[in-house]
Amino acid sequence: MRAPFTPARPTEREQVQMSAADNARHTSQPTGSGTPPGGEVPSRRARPRVTVVGTGYLGLTHAVCMADMGHEVLAIDVDETKIAKAVTGEAPFFEPGLEPLLRKNLDNGKLRFTRSFAEVGAFGDVHFVCVGTPSDAEGRADLSYVFTAVAALAPHLASECLIVGKSTVPVGTARQVMAAVRAKAPAGDRVDVAWNPEFLREGFAVRDSLAPDRLVFGVASEYAADLLRRVYAAPIAAGTPALVMDLETAEIVKVAANAFLATKISFINVMAELCEATGADVIRLAEALGYDERIGRRFLSPGLGFGGGCLPKDIRALCATASGLGVGSLATLLRTVDVINMDRRRRVAALAREAVGGDLAGKRVAVLGVAFKPDSDDIRDSPGLDVSGRLAREGAAVSVHDPVAMPNARISRPDLRYADSVSEAATGADLVLHLTEWSDYQAIDPAALAKVVSRPVVIDARCALDARLWRHAGWTVHILGRP
Ligand code: UDX
Repeated sequence: MRAPFTPARPTEREQVQMSAADNARHTSQPTGSGTPPGGEVPSRRARPRVTVVGTGYLGLTHAVCMADMGHEVLAIDVDETKIAKAVTGEAPFFEPGLEPLLRKNLDNGKLRFTRSFAEVGAFGDVHFVCVGTPSDAEGRADLSYVFTAVAALAPHLASECLIVGKSTVPVGTARQVMAAVRAKAPAGDRVDVAWNPEFLREGFAVRDSLAPDRLVFGVASEYAADLLRRVYAAPIAAGTPALVMDLETAEIVKVAANAFLATKISFINVMAELCEATGADVIRLAEALGYDERIGRRFLSPGLGFGGGCLPKDIRALCATASGLGVGSLATLLRTVDVINMDRRRRVAALAREAVGGDLAGKRVAVLGVAFKPDSDDIRDSPGLDVSGRLAREGAAVSVHDPVAMPNARISRPDLRYADSVSEAATGADLVLHLTEWSDYQAIDPAALAKVVSRPVVIDARCALDARLWRHAGWTVHILGRP
């Protein structure tokens, strides 16, 4: 466990791992009149004032956690409904622990919201850009929100300040942002740009923000590095390493981390296929591999594969970047990871077809779990929802249950049926599919559920149910990668 936070202090304990040589190589001082020559850091407000542009999943969490670290924070969004919700202390998405902190920091006045870029420009010393970078039709990152946000902010930057990108972007974006903002801001070259990628996991976003495992500061000046150290003084004092590097490396760190995690998941999933072909057990395999510290057990859980708003999008964007730069080997690797991942969904749909005798038309299928992972209401690129849609397209009557993601799923897939309870979803079912490993589903009494289904057949696509218990209760259990 990490030590609890202490109030913000100077940064003696900080582990800045940039050598003097690196520093000289990667540091270019902003040349405006507000920056003294010779790389000296000018004196500034003891506690920099923070703004956050974009109050989606990343931005709202960041704004709340910055306020909780003691900063005065002003957050902006162009979406009136998001702001209207946030000011009442309501988060527009499910994230454990976020709403109490939001309310606390609204009540104590540390966190405010606005829709005025003029106010944001006048207020902030450090402006975090937290807007989305969705995939375009070719899988590349669509940067229009980033450049629109910066273009709206730039005319209001009349004095020295730092723009910090947190959005996940292709390498080279930070320097383009710097050129764009300096061309439009009255403060010109006295506006600096840094990149500080986030590594938030949904369901753990507050913890990951307040006590990150590492901080990455991509900077082009010591001024930027100093401001970021002051903004993150609390986690740094509590022991979080702050890695200072050039802008390009910082941009790559984020996509490389997600590419590695995705590769690890696809690796164990092809091992699951090998296990299925040979009668071996992928869970015991993962366990045995995981004891090797060089490999580790985390992100070696086999099953339906990865989804969500980050991993699929980020590997496709990195693949597009790699192709564009002529790094064909990386593009090939990532394409393969993606294909393996998508094949899991086809495989589960095929297994479902086989389990009901070869034809899904007219069959009743109960789906347990459509959030892309447990403890989230996010259905973006959800493997469970994708499989549900595939079965429905083949004529199955699909009845979906999820502890929290059903409102979002209903909007995205109104053609599916939604049930208020597991038992309601399973009533009369020819097949039960376990597609997201919520702990609620591990607590199901299989004997009781067997009484309401038409045929007690379950496919555990997340390798998380107690197969022995279910079989004992009379179920036929199919598990990906296990006998
Ligand atoms: C991810 C990264 O972990 C985070 O650092 C980054 O900032 C954003 O993207 P998140 O999208 O919240 O976070 O989900 P994560 O916990 O990484 O899971 C991603 C997907 O992989 C989920 O669909 C999950 O079910 C799947 N997964 C995860 C597996 O299939 N097997 C595993 O072993 C782990």
